[in-house]
Amino acid sequence: MLNMGAVTRGEKGEHVAKEPDVVRIKREKRERRVDPAPAGMTRRRFLTFLGAGSAALTAGSTGVLSTGQEGGGVRSAAAAAAQTSGGGAEAFFTPIEPTDEDDLILPEGFRYDVVRKWGDQITEDAPYGYNNDYVAYFPIDALNGGQSSQDGILWVNHEYADPKWVSEYQDGEKTPEQIAEEKAAVGGSVFRIQKSGDNWEFVEDDQYNRRIDATTPMDLTGPAAGSEEMEGADEVIGTLANCGGGVTPWNTVLTCEENFQDYYGASSDATETSRYRWNDDSDNAQPPEHYGWIAEIDPFDPESKPRKHTWLGRLRHENAAVTLSESGKVVVYTGHDQEDQRIYKFVSTGTYDPGNREANLDLLTDGMLYVANFSNGRWVALDYENNPIFSDNGFTSQADVLVRAPEAVAIQEGEDEEDVIGTPLDRCEDIEVASDGTVYAALTNNAKHGNFYGQILRITEAGNDPTAEEFAFEVFAAGGPQTGFASPDNLAFDRNDNLWIVTDMSSDKLNEGIYETFKNNGAFFMPAGTAGIGGDVFQFASGPVQSELTGPFFTPDGSTLFLAVQHPGEETKDTNEPTSTWPDGDIPRPAVVAITGFA
Ligand code: FEO
Ligand code: CA
Ligand code: CA
Ligand code: CA
Repeated sequence: MLNMGAVTRGEKGEHVAKEPDVVRIKREKRERRVDPAPAGMTRRRFLTFLGAGSAALTAGSTGVLSTGQEGGGVRSAAAAAAQTSGGGAEAFFTPIEPTDEDDLILPEGFRYDVVRKWGDQITEDAPYGYNNDYVAYFPIDALNGGQSSQDGILWVNHEYADPKWVSEYQDGEKTPEQIAEEKAAVGGSVFRIQKSGDNWEFVEDDQYNRRIDATTPMDLTGPAAGSEEMEGADEVIGTLANCGGGVTPWNTVLTCEENFQDYYGASSDATETSRYRWNDDSDNAQPPEHYGWIAEIDPFDPESKPRKHTWLGRLRHENAAVTLSESGKVVVYTGHDQEDQRIYKFVSTGTYDPGNREANLDLLTDGMLYVANFSNGRWVALDYENNPIFSDNGFTSQADVLVRAPEAVAIQEGEDEEDVIGTPLDRCEDIEVASDGTVYAALTNNAKHGNFYGQILRITEAGNDPTAEEFAFEVFAAGGPQTGFASPDNLAFDRNDNLWIVTDMSSDKLNEGIYETFKNNGAFFMPAGTAGIGGDVFQFASGPVQSELTGPFFTPDGSTLFLAVQHPGEETKDTNEPTSTWPDGDIPRPAVVAITGFA
């Protein structure tokens, strides 16, 4: 019988990846085939070129695309790629084939532990939340400059609570009890994990274990704190819609509120019932203006109060990619994940002091927010005091500009209707800064523009200075059958500068139509040095049915990769007939896993 189950379970719920027979047979066939690729070039590289979905950004790219479009098309693009990088980049693992199996599939030699899953506890009183997303690992000795890769604190975002599972909600008005259950399932989990032998284990009753959810009090900092727009509030209740995030050099986590409008609505002016109907319970409803921010949490101080930094703007924040300028200013890049929305960056006023964590904790409370204008390669300051365009267009204060940032950056500034302050893009998901300072942004897709497969942009700041007001950009890699991935979402660099990409094709579109060839969502590897054209892309993991793999994050020594498996079985209509049973074989449970097997 063919071995269809590519993952076998050992004791203690551990999972060992094996190459399934169907995959092995396909691979062996492929290896026997006469490869038409030029010598020194893998077949995958030969087929690599910028995908069909990149039309929306071709006009502005710096000529990378044109290489692939002249004369021999695919062939000349591949040849150019080989020239750029010396050719023949390889993965350090045997890539897997796309699959629609209901399991987390890994290459031979890799295995995973489920570290926490929905239904587990974090503290005696607080359960692990639903739909885990961003993951960050903090070495337990980080505050003393240590880099332990065996003992640490894990932060995990919980983006949303699928009501049919979390509160057993069916339809109609939501009860206060159901809303309370859902509030306890979003936010984030903080907990200690330790490696014992080859296994990663949750540490029960550890002093750092803590849940942050939609009921946790938080302070506001920056111009909107205490402002009229916030109804005078300098404290708000809870965080929600926690999608991507980032870590600061002083070892705190930034968690990003993305689709906040689904909870209490988009703004206090809107009266409609929100998607999750948390405004059904008027006693517990909160002003929508208190959400859509980036919150900072100190995982090393369980008593610390989280803070939402309003200088970073209010929008559907996907992520927060943090870097330092040579002068020590903190720069945070953040994307707004919505069709035709923008990329922003925050630049701090103060500078980082490696010897003063207390002072560093205030660095995000003062600075300036910028939006990217790709038509002229400039960062435009959202500076109410010094740019009259905002008051001329009805904004009344810096707080107002930050609270309504997406409206402020859509102000027309020239004669042409399309000449607006910030350039609309194709749904920016994650942003990462590479070790050489270049900035990578995943634009996942935008059906409105015929961009179905998405692409990854590379932004180079003038003088390689993250505080620069000018930048250049190019399309670095594009989704499509040629590269084997579609709808890039989270990104991560490993310590060798290899790029890791996870995909988010919508659950309702997976395994059919133009997405059929990609099968389930997965994780992909692009070796360092394949710069310029998209290089080789190798599939490393495939997620369970209707899941999305999120939050790739490595331990400092590169020996463990954490991934969060989000929304397995998302298209389930009847909870008695789930479309996925990962990880335990009964009902689907979002879970964070630790993958080992890296050399
Ligand atoms: Fe929550 Fe844009 O992904
Ligand atoms: Ca995402
Ligand atoms: Ca990332
Ligand atoms: Ca996504």
